[in-house]
Amino acid sequence: MNTTTVFIHLIAGARPNYMKIAPLYKALEAESDLFSAQIIHTGQHYDTNMYQAFFRDFDLPDPHVYLGIGSGSHAQQTAKIMMAYEEVCMQNRPDLTVVVGDVNSTLACALVVKKLNIPLAHLEAGLRSGDREMPEEINRIVTDTLADILWTPSRDADENLRREGIPDGRIRCVGNVMIDSLEMVRGTIERREAYRTWHLEPGNYAVLTLHRPANVDDDRRLRRIIETIISLSEKIAIVFLAHPRTRKRLVGSGLDRDLESSPGVYFAEPLSYIDFMSLVFASRMVITDSGGIQEETTYLNIPCLTLRPNTERPITVTQGTNELVEVDELQDCVSAILKGDWKKATRPDFWDGKSSARIVSHLKEFTGSETSVDRQNTVGE
Ligand code: UD1
Repeated sequence: MNTTTVFIHLIAGARPNYMKIAPLYKALEAESDLFSAQIIHTGQHYDTNMYQAFFRDFDLPDPHVYLGIGSGSHAQQTAKIMMAYEEVCMQNRPDLTVVVGDVNSTLACALVVKKLNIPLAHLEAGLRSGDREMPEEINRIVTDTLADILWTPSRDADENLRREGIPDGRIRCVGNVMIDSLEMVRGTIERREAYRTWHLEPGNYAVLTLHRPANVDDDRRLRRIIETIISLSEKIAIVFLAHPRTRKRLVGSGLDRDLESSPGVYFAEPLSYIDFMSLVFASRMVITDSGGIQEETTYLNIPCLTLRPNTERPITVTQGTNELVEVDELQDCVSAILKGDWKKATRPDFWDGKSSARIVSHLKEFTGSETSVDRQNTVGE
C-alpha cells in the first residue's frame, strides 16, 4: 500500500448511497495527510432529485468521476458499470475501494476491484433479509463474500457474516453511518419545515414511499396498495413521494389519476434528503418499503409500517418502531398509531453519529497509518 497518502475510491450509484458516503468523505477529507478520497458516481440514478439534490444537501463536491451508466436490465446495468469502472481503475489504480449498501453499483464495482486485486471495503455489510428473490440480497451476499473489510451497522449483521464463514478479522461493527449523515445536517432539517409545501400541520400526516419491484411491478398488487392508501387518506393525510419506477407503473395503469383526485393524498416527486427528512421529522407515521427509512424512523422514534414480508434490518422491528405489514393489515395498524398505541424505540448500539470516525480509525489500522493515539482510541470492537 502507498507510503504517502492512501488513495481511496468511494462508490456511489443510487439514491441510498449518497447519504452514506457523505460523512465518510468528510471524515477522510479531514485526514488529508493520510488519505485522498475520490467519489466515483456510476450514474445508476441520474434524475436531479435522485442524485444532484443529495450532493447539494451534503455539500459534496461534484463526483470526481461520473460513469453515466443509467438504467437497464440488471445484467446490462451491472455489466456496463463493470466495464466503465474497470477502465477507471486501470488508468488510476486506487489503494482501496469502498462500496456501500446493496445496489447494482455496489456489486458491479466489488467484482471489478477484486478481479484487479484491489482491496475492497463494504460499508453496511452483513444485512440479510433471507429473501433471495430480492436483487439486493444477491448483491449483499456476493459483495460480502468478496470484501476484505466488512463494516457492519449492528451486532446481528456480525452474526450473519460469521454464519456464512466470514473470518472475524474482516468484520468490524462501526454502527449505522446513516445516523452520522442525519446528525451532520440535523439543524438544516429542523429549520426546513417541508410540510408547509402542502399546507400540512406537524403530526397530522403520514409519509408514503414505495419502489420495491415486489410491490410496484405487479399491477394487481399495486392496485390493492393504492386503493388501501386512498381509503386510509380519509383518516390521515398522506404525502406520497413517488420514485420514478413507481410513477411509471402508476401512470401505465391509470392509478395516478385516482391518486390525483383523492383530496387526502398529496402525490409528489421524490424529495432531496433534507426536504425528505424534514417531512419525516414532523410526520405521524411512515409507510414504506425502503430499507433505510426503517432505520431512520427507529432512530427518530416515529412509527413505521413496512410493506414487505421480511427485512434485512430486523433490529428496527425488535428494538425499533418498525412493523412488517401486509396490505390488509394497514388499516388496523394506522388506527393503532393514531390512538397512540404503538411501540417505542430503544436506539441500537453504535447508532450515535460516530460511525465515520470509527471507520477512519479502522482504516488507519488496516493501511498501517495509525498512530499510538489512534490505537488507544479504537472503538467499535
Ligand atoms: C435501486 C436499488 C434499490 C434502492 C433504490 C432506491 C438495485 C438493484 N436497486 O432501485 O436497492 O432501494 O434504487 O432508489 O440497485 N429511474 C429514473 N431516474 C433515475 C433512476 C431510476 O427514471 O434517476 C427509473 C429507471 O429508468 C428504471 C427505474 O427507475 O425504470 C429503476 O431504477 P434502478 O436504479 O434500476 O432501480 P431502483 O428501482 O431505483
